[in-house]
Amino acid sequence: MGKKGKAIVKASIKEVIKDLNAAYSDEWLAHFQYWYLAKWIKGMDADTLRPVLEEQSADELGHAGKIAERILQLGGRPVAHPAQLLKSSGCGFKEPALDPTDLRRVIRDVLDAEACAIETYSRLAEKYRGTDLVTHELFEDLLKDEVSDEEQWERFLPGS
Ligand SMILES: [Fe+2]
Ligand SMILES: [Fe+2]
Repeated sequence: MGKKGKAIVKASIKEVIKDLNAAYSDEWLAHFQYWYLAKWIKGMDADTLRPVLEEQSADELGHAGKIAERILQLGGRPVAHPAQLLKSSGCGFKEPALDPTDLRRVIRDVLDAEACAIETYSRLAEKYRGTDLVTHELFEDLLKDEVSDEEQWERFLPGS
């Protein structure tokens, strides 16, 4: 990153990179989880959920890309090993349901992942509000996306 770009970051750059890498890991794992679920689920309603999983899987990969760009800009190294993604992740990974027709469980798992992402981004956007505006804004943009993801999934819940 340029001299001035670095100078305006008042937070510890090491800590920013660590938080970014946790979020980056979450995004890769969400990308993988949704991608896998899109292939795995079966049954009539699966055809309704599949395109949403595919679309959001691609969105989460896009998020990982944006976070990686910020890590690189700060002179850091995005997590490079899949095993490390699990270790660095803040939200972790929930193994897809064994029963591919258990779509309620799929919806619940996705909603759990989105809820964790919303909590993470809301906390991190707040954390860097006054100390790293670029990272703050990135987290805010990601937060908006996850809030809309959650809303989309809640529509699939019975009674909503
Ligand atoms: Fe995301
Ligand atoms: Fe999401």
